[in-house]
Amino acid sequence: MKKTLITSALPYANGYIHLGHLAGAYLPADIFARFSRLSGKEVLYICGSDEHGVAITISAEKENTTPKKIIDKYHNANVEAFEKFGMSFDIYSRTSIPEHHKIAKEFFAYFYEKGLLAEREEEQFFDEKVNMFLPDRYVEGICPNCGADKARGDQCDTCGAYYNQTELLNPISIVSGLTPIVRKTTHWYFKFQDLQPFLEEYINSHEKDWKDNVLRQTYSWLKMGMTERAITRDLPWGVTLGDIPGMDVTKAAGKVLYVWFDAVLGYISATKVWAREHLGSSSKFADWWQNPETDYYAFIGKDNIVFHTLIFPAMLHSRDENYILPKNVPANEFLNLEGQKFSKSRNWSIDVRDFQEDFPAEHYTDALRYTLLMNLPETRDADFTWKDFQTRNNSELGAIFGNFVNRTSQFIAKNFNSRVPEIGNNFKKAWKKAIIHLDINFSENIDAAHLDDTFDKCFSENDKLMLTSLWQGIEKSKSNFLRFRIREANLEIMNIVRAANKYFNDEAPWKTIKDDKEATAKTLYVCAELIASFSVLFAPALPHASRKLQDYLGLHIGIGDPLKHPKHENIWDAAKLPLLQCDDYFNVQEILFPNIEDSVVETQMAKLGLKSEVQEITSTTKEVKKTKTEPEVAQLISIDDFRKVNLRTAKVLEAENIPKSDKLLKLQIQIGEEKRQLIAGIAQHYKPENLIGKLIIVVANLQPAKLFGNLSEGMLLAAKTPDGKLSLVTIENPEFPTAADVS
Ligand code: 2FM
Ligand code: ZN
Repeated sequence: MKKTLITSALPYANGYIHLGHLAGAYLPADIFARFSRLSGKEVLYICGSDEHGVAITISAEKENTTPKKIIDKYHNANVEAFEKFGMSFDIYSRTSIPEHHKIAKEFFAYFYEKGLLAEREEEQFFDEKVNMFLPDRYVEGICPNCGADKARGDQCDTCGAYYNQTELLNPISIVSGLTPIVRKTTHWYFKFQDLQPFLEEYINSHEKDWKDNVLRQTYSWLKMGMTERAITRDLPWGVTLGDIPGMDVTKAAGKVLYVWFDAVLGYISATKVWAREHLGSSSKFADWWQNPETDYYAFIGKDNIVFHTLIFPAMLHSRDENYILPKNVPANEFLNLEGQKFSKSRNWSIDVRDFQEDFPAEHYTDALRYTLLMNLPETRDADFTWKDFQTRNNSELGAIFGNFVNRTSQFIAKNFNSRVPEIGNNFKKAWKKAIIHLDINFSENIDAAHLDDTFDKCFSENDKLMLTSLWQGIEKSKSNFLRFRIREANLEIMNIVRAANKYFNDEAPWKTIKDDKEATAKTLYVCAELIASFSVLFAPALPHASRKLQDYLGLHIGIGDPLKHPKHENIWDAAKLPLLQCDDYFNVQEILFPNIEDSVVETQMAKLGLKSEVQEITSTTKEVKKTKTEPEVAQLISIDDFRKVNLRTAKVLEAENIPKSDKLLKLQIQIGEEKRQLIAGIAQHYKPENLIGKLIIVVANLQPAKLFGNLSEGMLLAAKTPDGKLSLVTIENPEFPTAADVS
């Protein structure tokens, strides 16, 4: 059976995990791991702390303590934060453990014996006061290229130039503050140039299935040509070289492996520990890493790309032990915070543990997962804002998902004694048949099912539409997950919930209950089943809410957690089918996503030194009053400000007037695979029927808002003259696709 091996980049144990980290390499991997387990795959999801390297020793110096104390502090804190965040690692290991040192040394020794390492003597700065060689980040000086001050040992942040540290002018050791001397030292260089043909073949074989950003960076390295790279450092902290046959011990003394060389091997050492603990022998790690039946996916942030697409594969291949290589490396871009880059040094960051302290309840964790997920930097840098967090919680999780659960549960409690309404066996049978039909014919309409006579008797038009939406949503989310479009996958699931709310409205059980209890029972039975399905489909994104639902329903079919004895059932596909027993207890006794008030968001924004919109509006009004007589000055914005606005083409599918509003129209629009509702103030300029089929431009990343009680998920563009004439901005060519970027 195929196995799915998933790794997330091992975070350095020298700082707390922040929201940017989560969006890069952790949340998407966890969602993918949970989805894969729910789909019946045998999954192993590996992570752990990266505990070596200069980053750790510098932190130890800053905090005036030892590297060991630093790694223990941050490893433990991050384990706890990840756990509360709902990460489903099979193991969260660390690279300071003996198993890890052993395997890293073995790899180095093997490459040394194989002749893959070149020994080179080079000059390096040495701090005589503290008696140590100075790695690049330990020395600062004047850039030899542009003359900027405080340039680092290997690179200038001002002009971007790379150089050898001995080229720095006026070098200063950041450890002692003194001028270092130059001394000779020996290092070993991995001859990556020997692997160029192998790497080219490997990367070319993924030209079609890897993400553009990943291929772009990787090809740019390959085009420059692989070169030899030092894989040892002079540092007192890390994996020492040990006794290597044929190597001069005096030269090896005081050297450790370069952190990247050992870090990537942390995935393997972690698997060995897991195999020892779960399979009784560490050698069983080979069932995963040396098994052609394993599909390996390495989730990372964009700063780790070449280490996972070139360096690690080169190492695995060179070991000659049939190690598998990453099948995909779905690297994300960066997440910004309120429009600016995360930066701990500028205090522009939200640590996960701080979030957890202020928002301890599980529903907040799910709301954070959902907000991050909907803003995943999958193709470009994305943004986290507190306002968006509030809107995602209130207007999507609460108003769409929570609302459906709530209205269904309350109706069942009131009218069906908190029991899953009784429904004839024929209905369940017809449901199964319809799904089998859709599965086999894939794109066919449910009406073509040619089921027996009972079919039409069983299903109303609304039922058919609902079942089709459920089937389509599950299929489409699956295909998006498999292409690592985690956001799109969840949009598809949200579309099923939207369809479910529409189903409830269209079936109008509050009317039918008066004279047709049987029809009402059917409606609520379907709604109850949908909630059971949602408890599976939302499990990857919202594991806490899903677990709660399954607890309330007494339906413990799983949320994609690692299991001791997994059964490998495809629960994802089973969510298309009836899951509940009639007459079982059904009562979801809580609001899954309580509203987040403005004051909560304002407090968080204030922590970042930001004003909320409410405060801003008041202060702007004040300013306007003050400067009333001054002429209006057009405010210039930067190109980056403009890029924040995501403009897309969209097609109008439906349009209708909104009762009691003479200005607003309610539009249903299509943006790519996604359907959305817009409320637009164009009723005095356009008749609803004239809008259908028009290709318009919408602001796709506007925070949703409620207008006249209707959710509006975006805004359309229109031109307006001073005397109030209004014309929609449209695309001329009717064949033009939706979701195209307008810029
Ligand atoms: O960027 C980082 O945080 C590195 N510690 C990632 C290492 S990924 C892998 F090599 F372990
Ligand atoms: Zn410079």
